[in-house]
Amino acid sequence: MAVTDEGRGGRTPVVIVDDLHVKYRVFASGKAAGSARSGLLNLTRGVREVHALKGVSLTAYENETIGVVGSNGSGKSTLMRALTGLTPPASGAVYARSRPNLLGVGAALLPNLSGSRNIILGGLAMGFSREEMEELKPQIAEFADLGDSLDLPMRTYSSGMQARLKFSIAAARSHDILIIDEALAVGDKAFRKRSEARIRELATEAGTIFLVSHSMTSIRDTCARTIWINRGVLEMDGPTDEVVRAYEASR
Ligand SMILES: Nc1ncnc2c1ncn2[C@@H]1O[C@H](COP(=O)(O)OP(=O)(O)OP(=O)(O)O)[C@@H](O)[C@H]1O
Ligand SMILES: [Mg+2]
Repeated sequence: MAVTDEGRGGRTPVVIVDDLHVKYRVFASGKAAGSARSGLLNLTRGVREVHALKGVSLTAYENETIGVVGSNGSGKSTLMRALTGLTPPASGAVYARSRPNLLGVGAALLPNLSGSRNIILGGLAMGFSREEMEELKPQIAEFADLGDSLDLPMRTYSSGMQARLKFSIAAARSHDILIIDEALAVGDKAFRKRSEARIRELATEAGTIFLVSHSMTSIRDTCARTIWINRGVLEMDGPTDEVVRAYEASR
């Protein structure tokens, strides 16, 4: 399927998920029982399979911000990781116009460096040049609003402060396809509001955004469309109002 084809109503599809299945193989501890006869452990006996996504299909279009809701362990993060290509499918496929970015320059940041040094580092990890980052740094620092803490090592930050810094770095540029998985959850209310506004802005600038959240307020304020993942199945996909109402009624 060519993702450049015009979709329904002339909209351009950006991501197509086609009957996606994801399975994890996990070792259940304590199950790898030894055999008295050989003295060897049977390592395969404890292997259990978790069927995390069971045939999910959806199409995301340009300039859409799609909310992703569902209870813990329902498969939201699994779907998001599959979109980035980090989690290989058992079957089915994901087609995308470009590789989606999962918000979180986390892997690139260094706890012993200051917040300001990490802004540069995170920017380099996203493909900016050092010059571009020096230029962008003041506005990232302003958005993060961490005051003098920016001069302190990142390991001294609270989890909320770290999340603010990561969001601020990632949100500095527009992404074709951006995935935000619970990144707003630990910020305070003022920061969350600012971040939601920035997400709406990013969606108009370029791309398609997936916002995973347990905050129905965030989802309602930010997304016109929402998908509900329930036990690995796409339970509902439609206007946020309807989907959130159905999801809340189910709990
Ligand atoms: N790396 C992994 N190895 C094995 N099983 C996993 C792994 N990651 C997730 N799972 C399992 O897959 C299922 C879906 O998990 P997932 O993290 O996608 O849920 P989620 O909807 O993001 O939940 P939450 O709201 O808690 O973030 C769960 O049963 C979980 O235990
Ligand atoms: Mg998750």
